[in-house]
Amino acid sequence: MSVSAGNEKVRVAGSGGGGGAHGEGNHVDRRGLEEVEERMVKVRFCDDTSSRYPYVWLRENCQCPSCFNSDAVARLFLTDDLDLHVHPKDIQVCDGNLEVVWNDGHTSQYTGEWLYQRAFTPQARELQRSSYRLSRVLWGRELEVPRIDYRSAMEKDESMLELLVLLERYGVVILTEASTRIGALIDMIERIGFVKPTHYGRDYQLKAVVSPNNLAYTGSKLGLHSDLPYTQDPPGQHEGKGGDNTLSDGAKGVSILKERHPNHYQTLLHTPIYFQDKGFHTYHFHKITKRTTITLDEEGQLNQIYISPQSRDSIMDLDPEQVYDFYVALKVFNDILNEHGITIKTKPGEIIALDNIRVLHGRKAFDPANTNGFRHLHNAYIDCDDLRSKRRILQSNLGVSLS
Ligand SMILES: [Fe+2]
Ligand SMILES: [Zn+2]
Repeated sequence: MSVSAGNEKVRVAGSGGGGGAHGEGNHVDRRGLEEVEERMVKVRFCDDTSSRYPYVWLRENCQCPSCFNSDAVARLFLTDDLDLHVHPKDIQVCDGNLEVVWNDGHTSQYTGEWLYQRAFTPQARELQRSSYRLSRVLWGRELEVPRIDYRSAMEKDESMLELLVLLERYGVVILTEASTRIGALIDMIERIGFVKPTHYGRDYQLKAVVSPNNLAYTGSKLGLHSDLPYTQDPPGQHEGKGGDNTLSDGAKGVSILKERHPNHYQTLLHTPIYFQDKGFHTYHFHKITKRTTITLDEEGQLNQIYISPQSRDSIMDLDPEQVYDFYVALKVFNDILNEHGITIKTKPGEIIALDNIRVLHGRKAFDPANTNGFRHLHNAYIDCDDLRSKRRILQSNLGVSLS
């Protein structure tokens, strides 16, 4: 797309009013308006950056009270009313803001700051992306699991923000010096957002029992797995107290798999398998999902990983030839995860917060008769959405920007 600067459509606007202090960036430069092509305008800011804005986007995002409800932070303007050929009758910069009179007579105003935050430049989009989601730090055996003091995260927003940022970057954090009181885990989740209930309840306690409805309630070794792969929208975060755990960064595992075994990576990306959970807890449940082991997000980056020897179904909607290929790929991936995994021991009263759809967890076998009540875990879940939401709010309150 070429910028047709210098043609007769170019309009230098803003004869009065001024464009704000140079270098602030968030005012539209009074010199700077060019109509480029037919469907967009280029706006230059006081820090000498500029962005093109399509007319159709500007019209839909008019901020006037009949087009936008600023209390609800929601658009009132309907797609029904959007004219794809909308164009300005008049467009100019006034007091550092953009003013448009559209061909249908409607008038719109946009502040320089509002436009600047929504610029379509690569740099601005990078910043917008980091608000959506922070970049990950991949880890292997070298990882010293980040630790945050429980009380300080409960009491200080700065510590809470640190906790949320570390969780998003590493997928695992240990909260230290939490009490062994059962409510401590729920208190932490509720400081962030809501507990996500599952068919095992709002939260649950793991102790070995006689007729378990889940292998978690036994002393068996549990291989690396993700929790609840048999629900359509498994919780992102899993917080548990106490016990020994094996952990492995699925994001790191996928990056190794992709590089060393691209064919197996493709297999795990494209072979849908069933996960199931059947039993009784308060009511009878029979959950089934069909999904691939690895899923990518809208940018082609790793989104989620689902591994669960205990709940991957023996029913497979595959041709028999595909089954062997799937097992080979899964085995190779599992070996990579084990090779790069870590074992951590938490003390009573410590909480492990982990990203359930990225970091796989497991545990060594133990003798339920011989634990003296030591292996007593309390588990609950929270959605990733709630963590990111809290992180954005705290960033805004504390004036912290992150990339
Ligand atoms: Fe688990
Ligand atoms: Zn409007």
